[in-house]
Parts: sequence; C-alpha cells; structure tokens
Amino acid sequence: QGREMPGQLPNLSMKQPSDKADNQTIATEESPLPIPPLLKDRNPDPNKAVFQLTAQNATKEFVPGKKTETMGYNGDYLGPVIRVRKGEEVSVKVKNNLDDITTIHWHGLEVDGDKDGGPHSGIQPGESWTPKFKIEQPAATLWYHPHPEQETGRQVYKGLAGLFLIEDEVSDRMDIPKEYGVNDVPLIIQDKRFNSDGTFQYDLGMHDVMNGLQGDTMLVNGAVNPFFEVPRGMMRLRLLNGSNASVYELNFSNNQTFYQIASGGGFLGKPVKMNKIVLGPAERAEILVDFSDLEKGETVQLENNGSEFMKFTAKSESPKEYTIPTKLTTIDKINPDDAVKTRKFVFQGMGPMVNINGKQFDMDRIDEKLRMNDTEIWEISNESGMGMMDGTVHPFHAHGVQFQILDRDGNPPPANETGWKDTVLVNPDEKVRVIATFKHSGVFMYHCHILEHEDAGMMGQFKVGE
Ligand code: C2O
Ligand code: CU
Ligand code: CU
Repeated sequence: QGREMPGQLPNLSMKQPSDKADNQTIATEESPLPIPPLLKDRNPDPNKAVFQLTAQNATKEFVPGKKTETMGYNGDYLGPVIRVRKGEEVSVKVKNNLDDITTIHWHGLEVDGDKDGGPHSGIQPGESWTPKFKIEQPAATLWYHPHPEQETGRQVYKGLAGLFLIEDEVSDRMDIPKEYGVNDVPLIIQDKRFNSDGTFQYDLGMHDVMNGLQGDTMLVNGAVNPFFEVPRGMMRLRLLNGSNASVYELNFSNNQTFYQIASGGGFLGKPVKMNKIVLGPAERAEILVDFSDLEKGETVQLENNGSEFMKFTAKSESPKEYTIPTKLTTIDKINPDDAVKTRKFVFQGMGPMVNINGKQFDMDRIDEKLRMNDTEIWEISNESGMGMMDGTVHPFHAHGVQFQILDRDGNPPPANETGWKDTVLVNPDEKVRVIATFKHSGVFMYHCHILEHEDAGMMGQFKVGE
C-alpha cells in the first residue's frame, strides 16, 4: 500500500488551465438557489436517529441542454442535510451504488476511529456500512464527504458532499434565525471546470497537480448563478467551502458588514464584525447578515475576490426583528500548560512530491501515537516555498477532534479564529500552533485539505490509545 514517488496522478500534463481548448466558462441564466433537503430521521425516538444515504452515479444539467455526469447522495448532486442533536445516538446506513469503492467521512465529528470513515473504512460497490455513534460535541456546522485512498478529490468533485448540523441547548436558547431554508440557509460553495460537452473536467494538468484543481465556474448548492429571495431582515448563512482546492475571499457587493458567529467547530464566544471573510477548503463559517436596509426588490451580490457568483434579492418584510447577540457561548480555553507533548508537522514539497515530515501517505504506517485524553500542541509549518519561491497555502485538517489555535507565527489568532476548528489555513512560511485534547480512540488521518495534495500523499495517520 506504499506510495511510489514521484507522482501517481492521472493524466499528468504540462497544460495550464488556460491552454485547454476544451475548457469553457459557462454562462448560464440565473436559477433559484437549491436548498438541500433535511434528511428524514427514521427513528421516532427523540434520543435516537436513523438515517439512510446512498452514494450513486447520476447526471445533472448544469449547462442548459447538456448532461453532466455526477455523483450524489440520495440525489443527483451533493447530499441531504443530516441534522442531529447533542446527546443523540445516531446510526447512518450508507449504501454504495457507485461502480467504485468509496467511504464516508464525517468531517469535524468527534467519534472513534472506526466510525470516522477514513480510507480504512472502504465500502465496496453494492455494499453498505452502518456506523453508530453518539453526538458529544456542541452545536456546529460540519459536513460529510468520501475519503477513499487517492480518489477523494475525484469523488468530491463529482458531487459527493453534504452538511451535518448539530444543535444543542445553547443553539436552542440563542435568539438568531433558525428557520431552515428561509432565514437559516446553507451555502455550499464550490468551483468547477466544464468541458464544452457539459462534462466536469477532472484531468489534472500541471497547474492542478501543483495547486489543486481550481475551477472557473462557481456553484452554490450545485447551481450556477443562483439567486435567493431574502426577507428584509436578519439572515443566517452557513457557509461551507466545499471546493477541492480554492481559498475564497467573500464579501457582499455593497460592502455591508456582517458578523461571524461560528467557525467550523461551533459558535464563537461572541460575534465578530467583518466585511470580508476568508474561507479555505473544508472550512465552515456561520454569519449573520442584516438585509433590513435594503429597498424592496434591491439586490446584493455575494462576491469571491471581487467577482459575483450569487445574488440576494430583498423581498418580503422580515417576520421578526433580530439584533446581533452580544455573547454567544463559553469556550473553555485549553491551557497550554496542560499539554504533555508538542509534535511538529512540516508541510513540504510540491506537486506529486507533497509530503508531511518527509513522508507520503502509507495506509499501513502509523505516523504518530497518542495516549487517550492527552492534551497536545501540534505545530504545523508550511515550508512548501522553501524560502526560494512562492509556496502554496495548505489547509491542515485533523480527523476526530476539534482544536484551538494558539498562535500564528507567535501572534494570537484573529478574533474569528478563537473558537473550535478542525481545519486551519497555513500560509507559505507560516507556523501555526494548535492545541487539542484527544478523547476518541482509533486511527485517524491528518492531511492537507487541498484534495489533490491529499490524494498525492500529503496525509499521515495518528493513533489514539492502544
Ligand atoms: Cu474533510 Cu480527511 O477530511
Ligand atoms: Cu475530516
Ligand atoms: Cu496542500
């Protein structure tokens, strides 16, 4: 199961995206924003939840008149929203109706390694896998996606991903918009490249091998150019950067301010005022944005790096007035003095050579051994630039745990990074220290969440407990 170096990536060529004659940016008409449905819980007991997901091949029309081959959970693209409560016993039956092996990973969920859905939990075509776990962490916007060895990038790109929401007594009490699909709206943001026949382009040129696949067409919840009619009042948006590789810098076209209320692992201590948010691959953020100053019928665009990709039109009056809460939750800071160990993770290499601490992924090798319930500091440095050239940003992610950021190059993290996180952007030449307590046993992955880097081997394994 080892990896030959260098380079096992398919269709490796020197082509830049702009060289691709077949590559076209599609201009489609506006369409209403699709809202992923909430997945039905088949168990009436309020303390138990039973869900069913089927990974399947499908086709979908992104470009009018053309069929795109896709993959989806219970549908043609993306998957339904799994919503659970803290304390609930959850079981999910996952059926693989694809032609390829897949797995399903609960990104951000604190569960034991055998429930986590990493590359060891392969589900063969036609087979099912039914992990059962208890929800033991606070309200948060998590997500799920496949994680088969060397194929994560392709399967996520084809459409396999969905949201996993946790609610608890803190989110119950909070006076913020909660009506799913109305004023509490998920935005799964992705970028794709389409061939002129409408198919997704996933043949990796050199640029993609170096930087991960960056598209030229933005999708939100699977739609190109979507619009959404909002009440003239407060909206809660749950943002997921579901792209393979792109870092987004999001703002509204009228430059209006908004408040980040949650990072990947749950609510922040208090709302953070901003007018632009950076979201790396796999990162989530919940924001509150007040549209009450808009005229009736007025439109505001959501932009990435200055280009518009979806719009909100103020329609109805808001049925209720909200104010921005002054306090959200209490985050107990982990004391660095409690850490029994500091581990170093050096992200280095480029393209097919990307590695962590000089090693590429080997499913039969455990890279780090931890004891149950230990608190550790992990120091992640990005040496991909090697001091000579521009390196790549690497989003670091660890499975089965939520961490807190201690510092970035010795400086305290910005206010919107003072809560729980499972994925953190590490810039070229930067060193980020995070701290976590490892309360779940088993084998887990840590890796770069640029999926083409992960698939090329920028991933390792840690084992907690015996
Ligand atoms: Cu979002 Cu290892 O995964
Ligand atoms: Cu994960
Ligand atoms: Cu990377």
